[in-house]
Amino acid sequence: YGTIGIIGAMQEEIELLLAGLENKESERHAGIDYHRGVFHGRKVVLTRSGVGKVNAAVCTQILIDRFGADAILFTGVAGAVDPALNIGDIVISSSCLQHDVDVTALGFAPGVIPYQDVSEYPAEAGLIALAESAGEKVYPGRCATGKVLSGDQFIADRGVVKKLYEELGGACTEMEGASVAQACHMNGVPYVVIRSMSDKADGSAHVNFAEFTVEAANRSFAIVAEIVKGL
Ligand code: ADE
Repeated sequence: YGTIGIIGAMQEEIELLLAGLENKESERHAGIDYHRGVFHGRKVVLTRSGVGKVNAAVCTQILIDRFGADAILFTGVAGAVDPALNIGDIVISSSCLQHDVDVTALGFAPGVIPYQDVSEYPAEAGLIALAESAGEKVYPGRCATGKVLSGDQFIADRGVVKKLYEELGGACTEMEGASVAQACHMNGVPYVVIRSMSDKADGSAHVNFAEFTVEAANRSFAIVAEIVKGL
């Protein structure tokens, strides 16, 4: 890959990666800051997209058009949907799907975008394999590969989680991955999403969020660094 686009959801993650970026040059487009530089000998562009599908899609298109990104890594936190997952576990995307797409009234299956070739976007096999080995190195026994569900909703309801698991087969839910995946698919650019589970999307607040965020950011940083080294 020539230029690797790295999108983070949290300022904390961006900060760790930013600190490790050599020859840093920053630009702003559409209100989003992009930081070019060299990380572990590779050309990267690092950015924080902001929350939600539109921010993440615009950010991805800019990474591809203006910075020539030819692979995209997305890292952040998510709500666990698969009951086998615990807080702190890591999910690597096998694919991403927008769970809030609903044209069922016209006879389309849940999550299906009408008149498109696909609505569930597979991540790139080589990037998945790299993320899996990086994950196992950084956090042994706590990484799974599965379907990432995205929507413009913070899920905090047990009933919704059950539906996302049983009807859509999700491993976790967040607010950006599938829009990054769709933008990558539309441009023929490979991607993978790496998410740490911050909650169980059921409204229970049994996490010290501030403390977790630091841990999650450290792990994400270590995983992204391993992936970039392996590219
Ligand atoms: N990101 C982290 N937890 C989430 C949740 N429960 N729903 C959506 N996005 C999330």
